Amino acid sequence: MSGSSSSSNSHPSTSRRLEGKVAIITGGASGIGESTVRLFVLHGAKVLVADVQDDAGAALCREFGSEETLSYVHCDVTREEDVENAVNAAVSRYGKLDIMYNNAGIPGKLEATVVGADSENFRRVFDVNVHGAFLGAKHAARVMAPVGSGTILFTSSVASVSSGESPHAYTASKHAVVGLTKSLCVDLGRLGIRVNCISPCALATPLLTNAIGMSKETVEDLVCSSAVLKGMVPTAEDVAAAVLFLCSDEARLVNGLNLVVDGGYSTTNLSFSIALKSLLST
Ligand SMILES: NC(=O)c1ccc[n+]([C@@H]2O[C@H](COP(=O)([O-])OP(=O)(O)OC[C@H]3O[C@@H](n4cnc5c(N)ncnc54)[C@H](O)[C@@H]3O)[C@@H](O)[C@H]2O)c1
Repeated sequence: MSGSSSSSNSHPSTSRRLEGKVAIITGGASGIGESTVRLFVLHGAKVLVADVQDDAGAALCREFGSEETLSYVHCDVTREEDVENAVNAAVSRYGKLDIMYNNAGIPGKLEATVVGADSENFRRVFDVNVHGAFLGAKHAARVMAPVGSGTILFTSSVASVSSGESPHAYTASKHAVVGLTKSLCVDLGRLGIRVNCISPCALATPLLTNAIGMSKETVEDLVCSSAVLKGMVPTAEDVAAAVLFLCSDEARLVNGLNLVVDGGYSTTNLSFSIALKSLLST
């Protein structure tokens, strides 16, 4: 055996799986995006964080010191000129664009029923979660197509494969992201550009803790008690690890995939057994 480790960790964290790559991460100032920024830099990528939280974005960049590795651009993904500018900024600062991770998203209002639902909220959720993702793909493809390579990734949600637990606008928007992924993978595949999406389970990021008004610890307890896979607390870092795989050359044949990262949550529906247990205990 060569010098490689025979331990169970066959992907040592020291191997830089994105060496020389340039990435944009929308929504990179917080939560899943922020965890992905940190992991991408660790793996040798140059990253442009595109977000509307300017202070958080700037603070994240200060941690890494030099703009040669990580920088920030204000980018509201619903504004085409902002997205176009972010893509142009990545190319002018770092010379190219290899990875476009369209991750920015909002939950919208937590409306339980369509009766009396706020139509403006529905439009806003689609504007950020779907139109924003579309604009990111459109402008990334503009600079990736001439070189015939690149990878585009979206953040969808477990709400794309499991219904009834999230608001209609959010659920529909995340289904739309999967549809966009599959449609684009055909269009851009012929140009050598891969397009995938990732669907995380509920995680205690600011998106969810703020939406339901609960502490990180309470949300983590809820996530763990409803999880299929026990013995771990699902985190943004777990999602970032899957994002790293999809954006690395190890996934070079993976195209048009909705990778569900939920510990098996969406494979089952325990409503019947919970109702049965509650009936038997009365
Ligand atoms: N946290 C969860 O439970 C969960 C589960 C499944 C999917 N997701 C999805 O993951 C993605 C990231 O969410 P998160 O959980 O890390 O939340 P988060 O709130 O921590 O991060 C979202 C980021 O998106 C940015 N953003 C929002 N609107 C924007 C806009 N118009 N332009 C640019 N940036 C904008 C925010 O400023 C923030 O930095 C979202 O698409 C979300 O729908 C989250």
